[in-house]
Amino acid sequence: MSAQLDNLPELRPMRAADLDRVMDVEPALYAHPWTRGNFDDSLTAGYSCWVVECGGALAGYGVLMVGVSEAHLLNLSVATAWQRRGLGRMLLGHFMDIARGSDAAQLFLEVRPSNVVARRLYSEFGFRQITVRRGYYPLGRGREDAILMGISL
Ligand SMILES: CC(C)(COP(=O)(O)OP(=O)(O)OC[C@H]1O[C@@H](n2cnc3c(N)ncnc32)[C@H](O)[C@@H]1OP(=O)(O)O)[C@@H](O)C(=O)NCCC(=O)NCCS
Repeated sequence: MSAQLDNLPELRPMRAADLDRVMDVEPALYAHPWTRGNFDDSLTAGYSCWVVECGGALAGYGVLMVGVSEAHLLNLSVATAWQRRGLGRMLLGHFMDIARGSDAAQLFLEVRPSNVVARRLYSEFGFRQITVRRGYYPLGRGREDAILMGISL
């Protein structure tokens, strides 16, 4: 089922009060989702955590860690019902703006080889494959590689 984009999407910083709704979305998107504790820790650590709301519904979110010389996109998620409406593109562009406004020279992320949708989005933004991390992700049985992608800021 998809949702109507009648209201303009609104980007704002994630708050602890959002985590119930974030945790309604996260397990539906990933075989190995982040826990509530992962999001809690990200907020506590001061990572750049953002949500996008559409008409009051939590449609997407992401987490960016900005270090001294490099930034790392740790999570980028759009709820299934809100996908393919440009929200992933909006979130990623926002995180790239934040990273560009920092001292970081590079922005990195990891993506599963099987995640063709996300890989296509990242490629469109100019991310390039840097290396493959063997057996990085847990899989139902065994493990799946991760593609490390990066872009100069
Ligand atoms: C990846 C994700 C964030 C994209 O969000 P989205 O809001 O659906 O993406 P957008 O609507 O902004 O689309 C941006 C681009 O992504 C690609 N894309 C999105 N959905 C796609 C689909 N179903 N098939 C192919 N490409 C797709 C396209 O390149 C698209 O650009 P286009 O519409 O101009 O062709 C979203 O699919 C998601 O949350 N997936 C599950 C979680 C996940 O895998 N996160 C990334 C982990 S590394």
